Amino acid sequence: MTSADGSMVNAFVPGAVDLPVEDQALIDRRRAVLGPAYRLFYQRPLHLVRGEDVWLYAADGSRYLDAYNNVASVGHCHPQVVDAMAAQAATLCTHTRYLTDPVVDYAERLLATLPAALGHVMFTCSGSEANDLALRIAGDFTGADGVVITANAYHGTTHLIAGLSPSLGRGVALNATARVVPPPLHGDGARFAADVAHAIGELSNAGIRPCALLVDTIFTSDGVAADPAGYLAPAVEVMRSAGGLFIADEVQPGFGRTGAGMWCFARHGLVPDLVTMGKPMGNGYPVAAVALQPRVVAGFGARARYFNTFGGNSVAIAAASAVLDVIEGQGLIRNAAEVGQAFAAALRGTTGLGPVRAAGLMIGVDVLTDAGAADADRANRIVNGLRDHGVLISASGRTGHTLKIRPPLTFSLEHVDLFMDRLQQVLRGA
Ligand SMILES: Cc1ncc(COP(=O)(O)O)c(C=O)c1O
Repeated sequence: MTSADGSMVNAFVPGAVDLPVEDQALIDRRRAVLGPAYRLFYQRPLHLVRGEDVWLYAADGSRYLDAYNNVASVGHCHPQVVDAMAAQAATLCTHTRYLTDPVVDYAERLLATLPAALGHVMFTCSGSEANDLALRIAGDFTGADGVVITANAYHGTTHLIAGLSPSLGRGVALNATARVVPPPLHGDGARFAADVAHAIGELSNAGIRPCALLVDTIFTSDGVAADPAGYLAPAVEVMRSAGGLFIADEVQPGFGRTGAGMWCFARHGLVPDLVTMGKPMGNGYPVAAVALQPRVVAGFGARARYFNTFGGNSVAIAAASAVLDVIEGQGLIRNAAEVGQAFAAALRGTTGLGPVRAAGLMIGVDVLTDAGAADADRANRIVNGLRDHGVLISASGRTGHTLKIRPPLTFSLEHVDLFMDRLQQVLRGA
């Protein structure tokens, strides 16, 4: 997502192509009621009616291989998750002001997947709320409000967090207390640490003390920064020695996507002060959270109360528990590692594509001109060409020249073959 007017990479441009009459009518009605701020994907938007595992089905009966969806991360409409939600909805759906077993059981189970130092978890409904709460708590703990973020970061939609999300474009002002650094796309940890130190210096010159380094630990919207594992550690050290905290935004890479365990920060040998998570946590049901070190929230908890009506409600917890069951039961982290490795190798062996950065099933592929310059137009043609060939991906990065490939964790080698076959067809014409 980028640009001055808030438009995003791979956004539908009204009037650019002729659409089926029914789709155009729905687009017009949608715009009339939802207003001007929403965007649709693809030059020819998808009109979806059903999902199953890695497949999305359109109103005209065609089906699409979903290589983009990290929300329905264990597969669209996974029966185990759907059954768990339905059973809980038919039994009790209430909030955290009553004593109920499942939220405590789940919190214990979730915390067991995290380093022991992360001893508490607080539930929200969205990744944005999780980051907002994390920043409030970090601000309370440090007594500071300077935040360092990357150049095309996206952390969410609340007033505070939109101001820490430069990928929303120049039309959305950044917070005065934010400083932006280039993403470590090539894994140069020393340079990233130096950039963070420079940003802290800039904050200090403006009389602002550092509160936190807030990063998506795989830098999804910046273009995916995967290797070498460990590149993030020096920058975190710099922030901590300046008195700030490390907030690992795991909303994109969390829950096994990177194939090296449940959490991407672990690839860097780091234990964050706070971890935010969401998207895949409920496989589509809104459930998100902040896991954090008890010392960070002790003062906040003594002074402020926290309640979020729907955050951690009974159905949300049923969905989230079922997601963990599926990840474990179907061996999805191992699958992400194995299929992701084969997928990245196939992409690396494909003529006409630039560098591939991959960890498990989070893959970024640069699209470059012959002279090696970023080629966002061709990336856009590939994304839309694939869509027309029944395969869904999108693009990422400041200039939108990086293909973003992020399928459900149930993606198989057969799906990779199908993807590569369609990609070859598209590349011949792009
Ligand atoms: C890295 C990251 N953090 C936070 C968010 C915000 O999550 P949500 O849309 O659930 O509020 C997103 C959403 O795309 C994200 O990609």
